[in-house]
Amino acid sequence: MAENKAMDKEDILIVDDLHTYFFTEDGVVKAVDGVTFTVRRGEVLGLVGESGSGKSVTAMSILKLIPQPPGKIISGDVIWKGQSILNIPETEMRAIRGNQIAVVFQDPMTSLNPVLTIGDQIKEAIKLHQQVSDIEAEEKTRTLLELVGIPDAGKRLKDYPWQFSGGMRQRVMIALALSCNPDLLIADEPTTALDVTIQAQVLDLMRDLKNRFQTSIILITHDIGVIAEMCDRVAVMYAGNIVELADVITIFKEPKHPYTKALLKAIPSASSSRDEELYAIPGTIPNLINPPSGCRFHPRCAEARPECSEIVPETVELEPGHFVRCLLYTGQIEITK
Ligand SMILES: Nc1ncnc2c1ncn2[C@@H]1O[C@H](COP(=O)(O)OP(=O)(O)OP(=O)(O)O)[C@@H](O)[C@H]1O
Ligand code: SF4
Ligand SMILES: [Mg+2]
Repeated sequence: MAENKAMDKEDILIVDDLHTYFFTEDGVVKAVDGVTFTVRRGEVLGLVGESGSGKSVTAMSILKLIPQPPGKIISGDVIWKGQSILNIPETEMRAIRGNQIAVVFQDPMTSLNPVLTIGDQIKEAIKLHQQVSDIEAEEKTRTLLELVGIPDAGKRLKDYPWQFSGGMRQRVMIALALSCNPDLLIADEPTTALDVTIQAQVLDLMRDLKNRFQTSIILITHDIGVIAEMCDRVAVMYAGNIVELADVITIFKEPKHPYTKALLKAIPSASSSRDEELYAIPGTIPNLINPPSGCRFHPRCAEARPECSEIVPETVELEPGHFVRCLLYTGQIEITK
């Protein structure tokens, strides 16, 4: 996309035409197949799409954590603060992951050590990345737990992960991620396992952190409803591609890609009753070993034309900052109304 050709001063991360594949016994899984976007300082970028669209693989590629084999970044680039991560040695990359880019995953139980107290885990993380005394680390741990809204933080830091509820554990994970004062927080389905009220609280917390510390956030979710209030910009992913990218208002008010429109139609509205059947996008997400020809969305698209199974759409910028990858807008086919 043209947006990324020039390095904008504000862009701390540039993902440029990234291709990440997995070489499996069944064939090559083209999990991320030409993904381009930027993250600006202090913004929340939403990455949304159905299960299997390549969101987590994109995140893992940014962190250079793709298991190799079977995975490999085939081509493209990830530029962190002006430097290609592909050329950064693993020792330096480890320091970047600890100090500058932090991650929060869906299930904190798998990321927290069950035999260490919450306080010890955060303290260790702080001491690993900062030259501080034991007492200073303990003080900072307490401050962080208070910051993420753990009541009675001084006492709770002596508890073990299993003594916390799901929502509280996710707050602990965010505290742990923030212990290194990251410039970028990648939150991969951070609230999926939580009930709606707790989910809203955790999202509020992340918004607050962004406002206070100018932390950039990539918020990954399959639920477009979650990103409405959180994100500044949204990238919609489908089958390894970004099919639409724009600011959040444009995505919700003037979606252009048929897939974005379908995702929005599938959000339960406050007025819909429990018995009302929710719109579901027909068909299933394609097999990424052998994706559909032409536009990958064509077998499910309500607006598909005959050419859609033959021509791969290019990405076009409809207006500044609004990118769409669909033949209806590229001029690659003649549209008769
Ligand atoms: N280690 C792996 N080996 C083979 N294929 C993989 C591997 N990791 C991911 N994939 C494939 O890459 C594709 C994209 O997966 P990814 O986890 O990025 O999806 P996602 O958008 O994060 O989905 P979800 O919403 O379910 O988390 C999927 O087809 C998945 O099966
Ligand atoms: S290119 Fe064709 S199939 Fe693909 S989203 Fe656009 S109209 Fe639908
Ligand atoms: Mg995922």
